[in-house]
Amino acid sequence: MCGIVGYIGGEQAAPILLDGLAKLEYRGYDSAGIAVYNGEEIRMVKSMGRLKVLNELTHDGATLPGTAGIGHTRWATHGAPSDTNAHPHFNETGSIVVVHNGIIENYQKLKQKLIRRGYEFRSETDTEVVAHLLDYYYKGNPLEAITRMMHQVEGSYAFGIMFQDHPGEIYAVRKDSPLIVGHAEKGSLIASDVPAVLKYTRSVYFIENEEIVRLTQDEMVFYNIDEEEIDKEPVTIEWDVNAAEKGGYEHFMLKEMYEQPKVVRDTFSPRLKNGDVVIEELGMSDEEIREVRKLYIVACGSAYHTGMTCKYVFEGLARIPVEVDLASEFRYRNPILDEHTLVIIVSQSGETADSLAALREVKKRGVRVLGIVNVVGSSIAREADNVMYTWAGPEIAVATTKAYSTQLIAQYLLALKFAKVRGTISDVEFAGMLEDMERLPEQMEMLLSNKERVQRFANRYLAARDVFFIGRGIDYAISMESSLKLKEISYIHSEAYAAGELKHGTISLIEEGTLVAAVLTQEDLFKKTISNMLEVKTRGACVLAVTQVGNTEVEKAADYVIYIPKTNRYFTNSLAIIPLQLFAYYVSIGKGCDVDKPRNLAKSVTVE
Ligand code: AGP
Repeated sequence: MCGIVGYIGGEQAAPILLDGLAKLEYRGYDSAGIAVYNGEEIRMVKSMGRLKVLNELTHDGATLPGTAGIGHTRWATHGAPSDTNAHPHFNETGSIVVVHNGIIENYQKLKQKLIRRGYEFRSETDTEVVAHLLDYYYKGNPLEAITRMMHQVEGSYAFGIMFQDHPGEIYAVRKDSPLIVGHAEKGSLIASDVPAVLKYTRSVYFIENEEIVRLTQDEMVFYNIDEEEIDKEPVTIEWDVNAAEKGGYEHFMLKEMYEQPKVVRDTFSPRLKNGDVVIEELGMSDEEIREVRKLYIVACGSAYHTGMTCKYVFEGLARIPVEVDLASEFRYRNPILDEHTLVIIVSQSGETADSLAALREVKKRGVRVLGIVNVVGSSIAREADNVMYTWAGPEIAVATTKAYSTQLIAQYLLALKFAKVRGTISDVEFAGMLEDMERLPEQMEMLLSNKERVQRFANRYLAARDVFFIGRGIDYAISMESSLKLKEISYIHSEAYAAGELKHGTISLIEEGTLVAAVLTQEDLFKKTISNMLEVKTRGACVLAVTQVGNTEVEKAADYVIYIPKTNRYFTNSLAIIPLQLFAYYVSIGKGCDVDKPRNLAKSVTVE
């Protein structure tokens, strides 16, 4: 996730900006830059790579004198990591400069309009649109230009902005991306997050959606989108620097779980337009979509589990046969591929060695590959024929949660698109599913707010030796991911089974007190799974059920039930996984494990 800093005051700005950016490094970034106003002109230095490079280029800020400036660490979304795409971005004359965190969803449309008005673009970013748009609206009043720009842009944003003919002022504004401001003895500061300002002040203002702030050395004035002045109360930050990096959460994993409603919305919202699913980056005509006869979803670990779920979604909605394969197996098994095959490689990092090798194998055979990737400009993103990005932002905890959730959403969208084009879904069902998708973030929030209940249950199982997860259909896929979450961060042995398979051998492992977590989200399979729950319960198992609200029948076979809200049968994974992620998390911290960095694991597996 990008990081923004800004400073205006009596000190040299550049060293303060560089220091602030260093405090935001934990957010992940691929390039960095700063722009400083020296009283005459705004000068900028930006570069791909670590902050070290920027420090060297500016001699730790000494080559950019001036007491007002804005800075940025970029985590690429639109346009690969490069010097040119790095922020800040100028208007054409260099009199307006912008840094941005977020995604401008309608940037293509705005860009075309601006090009028609004669603006020339230097970068591939969505942000540059805003620099030119501000230029277009600027008639001497920064506040007016900013509010007019806000009326035009759709999506999420936090901006830091400077205008050359308004020395002594910095502007900041936000919608759906975080931004704080603080006033210190030395001047005023803006930042994406608290750690960047803690050294100077503990009293900060959280900017709310569509609020604007004008900062000078001595004061901060807040406005709403109607340019009316508003009052705001500062908040005193009690956290230490370590906790501040995690937004006050104890661990990155918990923070990332709590980001899920937002990133899920970020992933579907730009692709839902006027009651339709629009995936421009798919690069396939309707004719080509109709010609696909077979899909392979190829991935590793949790990404593979999203494929296991989405096999049911694609087959159910679009009636296309789907094979889901572990990349490490697929690459060596000489799969049957032809011109009617589409291969989808799913990867958070875009660098997983087995997934990348599988992609290359497919390309060698001249078959089309679509990447579903989180890291822009990563190897899989670059080498796939087309890439559909998940907008999860950087994920720091080794155990994936938010990237997993966005991978599901990307595949739901694809399945819906395919179903619509192939005529295998009715208009009513399609419209209903889009409504259900839009409700998911709110439903996820509701589940996250019940975390204490899950924690109490988890605390009873800190000494568990084995835990089994069972389910049928999509619920089996959810079980696989839940089992992986638990074992990777708590080191408790765990397996997932298709519930009907238990009696073919595994049931002999059940003994008094063994925890079996059953997932029941598919109405037509409730009765079947309840029978399997009874089979283990009568053999002494303690049964936890995660099921849809209303399925009270489950209570006769479960010791403990977690209900999830109703949603479309194909979307249930997005909700059922939340309490099961929380369960794994609380078992892990209850046991004192290093939840963000489990032993023997790496975030990105770049070796075979
Ligand atoms: C899950 O929590 C793991 N971190 C792991 O299984 C991961 O999903 C797998 O290694 C694939 O990584 P990728 O999405 O970056 O390709």
